[in-house]
Amino acid sequence: MKISVVGAGGNVGSTVALSIAQRDFAKEVVSVDLEIKKDDKTFNPAKGRALDEWQTAPIHLFDTYVHGTTDYADTKDSDICVITAGVPRRPGMSRDDLLGTNANIVKTVTEKLVEHSPDTIIVVVSNPLDVMTYVAYKASGLPAEKVVGMAGILDTARYRAFLATELNVSPKDIQALILGGHGDTMVPLPRYTTVAGIPVTQLISKEKLDAIIERTKMGGGELVGLMGTSAWYAPGAASAQMVEAIALDQNRIFPCAAWLTGQYGLKDLYVGVPVKLGKGGVKEVIEIELNADEKALLDSSAEHVRSSFVDLGRLMTF
Ligand code: NAI
Ligand code: 2OP
Repeated sequence: MKISVVGAGGNVGSTVALSIAQRDFAKEVVSVDLEIKKDDKTFNPAKGRALDEWQTAPIHLFDTYVHGTTDYADTKDSDICVITAGVPRRPGMSRDDLLGTNANIVKTVTEKLVEHSPDTIIVVVSNPLDVMTYVAYKASGLPAEKVVGMAGILDTARYRAFLATELNVSPKDIQALILGGHGDTMVPLPRYTTVAGIPVTQLISKEKLDAIIERTKMGGGELVGLMGTSAWYAPGAASAQMVEAIALDQNRIFPCAAWLTGQYGLKDLYVGVPVKLGKGGVKEVIEIELNADEKALLDSSAEHVRSSFVDLGRLMTF
């Protein structure tokens, strides 16, 4: 199993590469990024971070060979490619502010990846996530089930972590689901949140749960405010979990940005929904029952994503 990660000289990409290696299911991780020129010197961050990561192998005890490159020929015949290339948001920016810059980067990177790996599966991480997943889908020419976006696992992990702290229980026992676009309009679903099978609404007051839901929706921004750039540990781990599910044909059920063809009454857009992830990518979009309020929130989130698709249409055509 060969996996390539583009943008791996940066924070999220390098964390994806290391998280995959630590799970020790792949033969090889190829870390790709650009060369950077600074003060008349040339740096190769992907090569540097990959070398540093590979040197943890004797300590973390993994065999996955992590190495870095700027040459896409080295990604040849990758089974799975992860795209984290692009700019992250800074304080005061929304994810949507990144669209113009990142659309061109994701398009270019995708074209180079599929040139060398025409049958690969692509996991997109760059923001704004839902629309960047669409860019990769169109630029790759791959079937929609082979192009999937990472956001729901991260958003759900934040929600589960906040609940674990509040309830003083293990995060392992919290199961939850978040639908919709990766942004402030995302839709956490209390009706589908359980603690060891117990509906969360039996364990927490409505006021406290509402506050946790609001904090989850703003979870990315909270970290940008604390660090001056966006998060990477949880995004990297979440992406690695998706890659592992595909590589090992695990049939995991995760919320991911998937191409909809009428499910949930939505069509022709990528948005976060529960999917079955395994060999070949998205095996199935799972349609859960939503009440009128939940459906209205999902529709409104999907409308927001659709408006980004319209903005994208002003920038590029496929
Ligand atoms: P970063 O700036 O640390 O790393 C980005 C890397 O992309 C840089 O090393 C840069 O050289 C590289 N890059 C830019 N253009 C490239 C090109 N044409 N070819 C190859 N490499 C290129 O940024 P960070 O924090 O790693 O974030 C990366 C992206 O992931 C951002 O768009 C960010 O918003 C997004 N993100 C998405 C999340 C999600 O839940 N989907 C979560 C966290 C970040
Ligand atoms: C996050 O949610 C910025 O999308 C990124 O951390």
